[in-house]
Amino acid sequence: MFLTICYISNASEKLTDQDIETLLLDAKVFNNQNNISGILIYSDFTFFQVIEGEYNIIKSLFERIEQDYRHYNILKILEIKSEKKEYHKYNTNFITHNKKKANQELLKVIENNQHIFSQKLHNFIVYQSKSLMSIY
Ligand SMILES: Cc1cc2nc3c(=O)[nH]c(=O)nc-3n(C[C@H](O)[C@H](O)[C@H](O)COP(=O)(O)O)c2cc1C
Repeated sequence: MFLTICYISNASEKLTDQDIETLLLDAKVFNNQNNISGILIYSDFTFFQVIEGEYNIIKSLFERIEQDYRHYNILKILEIKSEKKEYHKYNTNFITHNKKKANQELLKVIENNQHIFSQKLHNFIVYQSKSLMSIY
């Protein structure tokens, strides 16, 4: 059984670039060792993350993520249980800082994984991302 969780959150104001780098590196090591796929995007003190993997591994990882002092206002957007992997990219990708790149990457994630997002949410996020991309 697999589990896919997607959420957004606000990064702690105290986080430095170095803290973000450390966070991404640690997460990458754990995720790759545990066959977790997904993406983590950081831009403007906001995180967007999709994590997918074996049910119990993702359940306990998300419990740790929820308790993590490095972010707050964690808003879970979706939680899907499935027999097969829904999110096809292997490895967790990490995108930071460059707003335009972050938006493009977010758009790509949503577009490539339409089936895991409801149609309404999908349309909303695509619309928001496109309008953000035209601003930056
Ligand atoms: C926004 C955010 C995303 C995170 N994503 C992951 C992740 O994908 N994989 C991971 O192992 N840790 C991730 N972490 C770190 C975990 O919250 C936690 O520090 C890590 O699992 C180690 O837990 P422990 O200190 O209880 O051993 C993330 C933290 C934050 C703030």
